[in-house]
Amino acid sequence: MHSRTIATCLLACVPLIASHGGGMHYIIDGVVHSGVYSKVLNTETGSIQRMWTWDSIDQVSNPFLACRIDGSPYKISYHAPIRAGSIVSVNYTIPGSDWTFGHPIGPMLAYMAACPEVGCEGVDLRAPIWFKIWQAGLLSGTYADGYWAMKDVMDGANLDIPTPSSLKPGKYLLKHDMLNLQTGPPQWFPNCIQLEVSGSGSSLPDAKDLVAFPGGYDNGEGSWPTHGEGSRWLYVDHANDTDYPMPGPPVWQA
Ligand SMILES: *[C@@H]1O[C@H](CO)[C@@H](O)[C@H](O)[C@H]1NC(C)=O
Ligand SMILES: *[C@@H]1O[C@H](CO)[C@@H](O)[C@H](O)[C@H]1NC(C)=O
Repeated sequence: MHSRTIATCLLACVPLIASHGGGMHYIIDGVVHSGVYSKVLNTETGSIQRMWTWDSIDQVSNPFLACRIDGSPYKISYHAPIRAGSIVSVNYTIPGSDWTFGHPIGPMLAYMAACPEVGCEGVDLRAPIWFKIWQAGLLSGTYADGYWAMKDVMDGANLDIPTPSSLKPGKYLLKHDMLNLQTGPPQWFPNCIQLEVSGSGSSLPDAKDLVAFPGGYDNGEGSWPTHGEGSRWLYVDHANDTDYPMPGPPVWQA
């Protein structure tokens, strides 16, 4: 698809997709990197972001759970330089509109995966390569009425993901993931980007710290509505709960 077609659709299609969303651009060590739907994407330098569609992932077994459909590299792709420990700041607002991520309730999670020196383009996204680097869920109150970190993003804040400061330099994928709990079935909104980490660190996770997607959320029963339960899961059955079990592995401690 040509980026001009995407940009045209972006504005025309907004009413249809008003509750969905994804990373529009990324600010990394002061540099702005356009996502594949950005109207200012430079088609000659390309994008760090993997291809995605507006649809959410509704099944934990979906083969595209890692990076959304279809997760392939943009036709010209590169790796954004980042110093180990810097923040990846994800902006979800569609340029020229006030439209941003549409869900306030659910966890946000971020993972990285080490790539070979040639780059991340050829990496099998379904392999056990992912380690969790960050997560944020229910900050206070109850599931139904409490304050979830995701609400800040819906209100226009960037999603700021700190990267591990002792991480070994090299090329990595970063996956940022949102799970909407309001609708039932659960809706995942992952996106993946390519990074080139610099620094003097030497840490890498052990194989036991790595998960595959699908697979990495198989411990998550209890963290989202089962199919058929619908919004009752959130607004009735768990409305007054205050401890939200984060899905996936623990955050990797470098
Ligand atoms: C996100 O980007 C939009 C323009 O695309 C801008 O108006 C907005 O201020 C940015 N948000 C943050 C938190 O920087
Ligand atoms: C949650 O709290 C409300 C208000 O106190 C109450 O009406 C409701 O029955 C409670 N729900 C559950 C599942 O305990």
